[in-house]
Amino acid sequence: MKVFGICGSPRNNTTEYVLRNAIDKLESKNFETSIFFCAGKDIKPCMHCDYCLMNKKCIIEDDMSIVYENLLDADGIILATPIQSGGISSNLATIMDRTRALEAVDYNILRGKIGMSIAVGGDRTGGQDFAHLKNITYFMIHGIIPVSGGPFGSNLGASFWSNDNLDDIKNDSYGMESLDRTLVEFEKFLVKYID
Ligand SMILES: Cc1cc2nc3c(=O)[nH]c(=O)nc-3n(C[C@H](O)[C@H](O)[C@H](O)COP(=O)(O)O)c2cc1C
Repeated sequence: MKVFGICGSPRNNTTEYVLRNAIDKLESKNFETSIFFCAGKDIKPCMHCDYCLMNKKCIIEDDMSIVYENLLDADGIILATPIQSGGISSNLATIMDRTRALEAVDYNILRGKIGMSIAVGGDRTGGQDFAHLKNITYFMIHGIIPVSGGPFGSNLGASFWSNDNLDDIKNDSYGMESLDRTLVEFEKFLVKYID
């Protein structure tokens, strides 16, 4: 089973650390994995030109082609975002908008995959839940089944407090607990609905 993680940070730092931790844990359970890092990539915003609706592909040629391939190939998708202005990063929002070109090919193209959300804020309550809700909304729009961390805490996904640095996020044991809880649900859903 294949899991594709998207790191929505414009740099390689705390969100990358958390996503790699999640991916390493999944690999140790024999999931096949791949990660796309937004940092340093060229992903232009959707222009709403509607070329995709007519031609079944996006008119823009950039690194989004890597994301398209991996999204199609994946059974499970992890969206990992730093909190920016109380929500997801603009990098991740751009990827979400550009997904429109996939549904232009086939309305059901992502339906039935499993999705989980990771949110990393500089503040403890900096907008992590709001970012999860955006990720979960994206999953729902595309027919992707969103998982939570279960009924007792981590209800919307894995939430981290980085205090804007790598040392502190490594010590965020509560955040790591929320990641582990969400991964348990993610794995269960993958096995139940995809296997
Ligand atoms: C433009 C910008 C806006 C930010 N806004 C928030 C915010 O609203 N809430 C918050 O908790 N952290 C905010 N942060 C801090 C980052 O979420 C935090 O430093 C995070 O760990 C960065 O992830 P990264 O290391 O993967 O880039 C912001 C950072 C930037 C650059």
